Amino acid sequence: MKKKVIWITGASSGIGKCLALKFAKEGWIVVASARRKELLEELNKENNAICSFPLDVTNVDDCKNTFNKILNKFEEIEISFFCTGMHDPSSEKKFNLEKIKEITEVNYFGTLNCINAVYNYYLKRESGQISIVSSVAGYRGLPAAGAYCASKSALSSFAESLYFEMKKKNVRVSLVSPGFIKTPMTDQNDFPMPMIKTPEFAANEIYNGLIKKNSFEIHFPKSFTFIMKILKILPNSIYFKLVGKGMSKMKY
Ligand SMILES: NC(=O)c1ccc[n+]([C@@H]2O[C@H](COP(=O)([O-])OP(=O)(O)OC[C@H]3O[C@@H](n4cnc5c(N)ncnc54)[C@H](OP(=O)(O)O)[C@@H]3O)[C@@H](O)[C@H]2O)c1
Repeated sequence: MKKKVIWITGASSGIGKCLALKFAKEGWIVVASARRKELLEELNKENNAICSFPLDVTNVDDCKNTFNKILNKFEEIEISFFCTGMHDPSSEKKFNLEKIKEITEVNYFGTLNCINAVYNYYLKRESGQISIVSSVAGYRGLPAAGAYCASKSALSSFAESLYFEMKKKNVRVSLVSPGFIKTPMTDQNDFPMPMIKTPEFAANEIYNGLIKKNSFEIHFPKSFTFIMKILKILPNSIYFKLVGKGMSKMKY
């Protein structure tokens, strides 16, 4: 039987890298994209079912051309998994317009550039899945994370809209909302991260969510995302009081 293909962006480290290894181990062909070519080549050495297609998601033409090359080589792409993201906690303590633009350019528009590249392909194919990695940080505005939260909030809303559009064409759209996962991104944080999990844990949860289940949102760890979901529906007055109190306890 022909092996199925998944395209993963943000595959050079953290969650995307672990997911690439997980899918390859499960017998898939994995097309791995990110800017750092050498890291993608190391992944290929670890498992030759992982193929390197370097890409900068902020470049709309690069996204289109890379996807066309992938399509030429593999013909059918079952899942497109958009995991690229950046966070810069040190820049979030004070309003910094340039950084906000940079983070939005990668997290939001970078993902939209990838969706743009695959959009017509999935409309025509009338099957398959587009999966978008957002965050529980997109549920509400968290302290000292405005640029990151806003970019993820925009992404989550966009994914919901895309869901309706793609459903008509039998294409599944899923949204991935992780809690804290230990990766180079969270290694920058200087505060205790509750219920933090390994990227291998994240990869297993995502694999099961993409392959074995059919819900729109794949969120984990449930013990943490449950709390974030409660914060999401709280009235503003209670939300601001609760989070403000938590912050002052942490002396943040
Ligand atoms: N870790 C967490 O706790 C957590 C929680 C919620 C959501 N998330 C989300 O999960 C995703 C993966 O994050 P992570 O924690 O695994 O972080 P990470 O290890 O820093 O991975 C980020 C990935 O994005 C790629 N990337 C960044 N800018 C890019 C660009 N312009 N073009 C192409 N690729 C680019 C990086 O590769 P190159 O530098 O090689 O390009 C890297 O592969 C992100 O969307 C993040 O927001 C993470």
